[in-house]
Amino acid sequence: MPLAKSDPVLIVGAGTFGLSTAHKLASLGHTDITVLEKDNRVPSRFSGGFDLNKIIRSEYIDPFYTDVALKAIRHWQTNPLYQPHFRQVGFLNVVTGEAPAVVQNALHKYNQSVAANPAFNGYLVPCPDADAIHKVAPQFTGALPGWTGYLNRLAGYAQSSNAMQAVYGACVQLGVKFALGEAGEVDELLYETAPGGMKCVGALTKDGKGHQARTTIVAAGGFVANVVPAIASQISAVCWGVSHIQLTPSESEKLRGFPVTTVRDIGFFFEPDPATHKLKVCYMGGGYTNQKNGLSVPYSTLAESEYVPEEDVRQTRRLLKQVLPHIADRPLVDTHLCWVADTSNSDFIIDFVPGTTDNSLAVLSGDSGHGFKMMPIVGDFAVDLLAKGAQELPRWRWREPEVEEGRPKHIAWRATVTVDLSSTPRAKL
Ligand SMILES: Cc1cc2nc3c(=O)[nH]c(=O)nc-3n(C[C@H](O)[C@H](O)[C@H](O)COP(=O)(O)OP(=O)(O)OC[C@H]3O[C@@H](n4cnc5c(N)ncnc54)[C@H](O)[C@@H]3O)c2cc1C
Ligand SMILES: *[C@@H]1O[C@H](CO)[C@@H](O)[C@H](O)[C@H]1NC(C)=O
Repeated sequence: MPLAKSDPVLIVGAGTFGLSTAHKLASLGHTDITVLEKDNRVPSRFSGGFDLNKIIRSEYIDPFYTDVALKAIRHWQTNPLYQPHFRQVGFLNVVTGEAPAVVQNALHKYNQSVAANPAFNGYLVPCPDADAIHKVAPQFTGALPGWTGYLNRLAGYAQSSNAMQAVYGACVQLGVKFALGEAGEVDELLYETAPGGMKCVGALTKDGKGHQARTTIVAAGGFVANVVPAIASQISAVCWGVSHIQLTPSESEKLRGFPVTTVRDIGFFFEPDPATHKLKVCYMGGGYTNQKNGLSVPYSTLAESEYVPEEDVRQTRRLLKQVLPHIADRPLVDTHLCWVADTSNSDFIIDFVPGTTDNSLAVLSGDSGHGFKMMPIVGDFAVDLLAKGAQELPRWRWREPEVEEGRPKHIAWRATVTVDLSSTPRAKL
């Protein structure tokens, strides 16, 4: 039986994917949508999208994702819900002179993929050396030693929390119900035995309440294995440290307008936020995990994620010394770990859960750290799944477990290996 407009739908998680899906379903006329969220506010502080900004790039090495990203970016440019939160400052994709060959090679592949795609005609500026980069980013006062790459002007960044806030508001206006905190944190899904398997009939929240649904959609980000344990063999929760430098309004004004910059062998950073004057910077190593009893999930409280490892501080300062040396030794503020759901090949998982019947349980996961840019369209994929079935989204099917040395297989494209937080010294700031 197809999903009727009046059927109750539960969405677990008011993060990037959950909000987009709730909004899309409500816009299509679904009248009984409830979003369950473990934080006591939306935007949720547990969401990978919860902070000042996220890179909205339009190119991937893989043309399949470039097409999806180009579709998303058109929404960021024109959709009245998303456009106010997008800044098309361009995306500067570079490596330093110290980049290992594997990272230089990745940049080279990006460079080839944008050069070969007519969608980027007129948007690309080759940046073979520091002089060329200084021309497109005169705000960079550092020497940029050995830096090389390109600028793609068909890209920028989104003010991500603000965008989530806007989509949340639009959902409320369309009648979507939200249950938050203990009333929204799902302890477990509810099942009934059905011919051919188990039917998911809703979810039980921490306050002891059962929520009945015709279809339950789990969009719990890095936490997904807590809710759908069977997915644990395909997903690792991985985090990266996020840091900021607090600038004065006049310092912030002077730096305004440079492209969002990824230095592939160190990390990425954004122009200062116009409202808070904070400059966000992230070290982009292999990421960190939290392995507990064979399960890879984020820390369960916000307080536990409010720090960054020592290595992040070292690399953040190394990056800033090369590009903005005058602020390289400033205090790092609002440091925290930001969690995503990694798959072994960075493909999303958007599918019904095997063994469940009647399209009763869908999962939207495996964002692999590149999902925020898809926020305007990820709900469309969820709708396609519900309306047309999983064959519509062959790349994003539930996969057989890929395990290596007892752990989900490591993602090959990351520059360094993922290490567990338990063996990583914390920065004392
Ligand atoms: C450091 C960092 C930088 C990033 N940079 C970029 C970028 O530049 N560009 C980009 O496109 N993407 C970026 N991302 C990735 C992006 O943030 C994620 O892909 C995106 O947020 C994934 O969305 P999601 O809905 O799957 O998960 P989330 O947004 O994390 O949402 C999951 C939600 O589920 C809730 N939840 C979990 N468990 C439960 C439960 N039991 N009951 C109820 N609710 C629950 C959580 O509280 C959370 O709100 C970055 C991520 C990180 C960490
Ligand atoms: C990128 O491609 C352009 C044109 O194809 C080339 O001139 C340039 O050297 C390349 N740059 C890098 C960093 O690979």
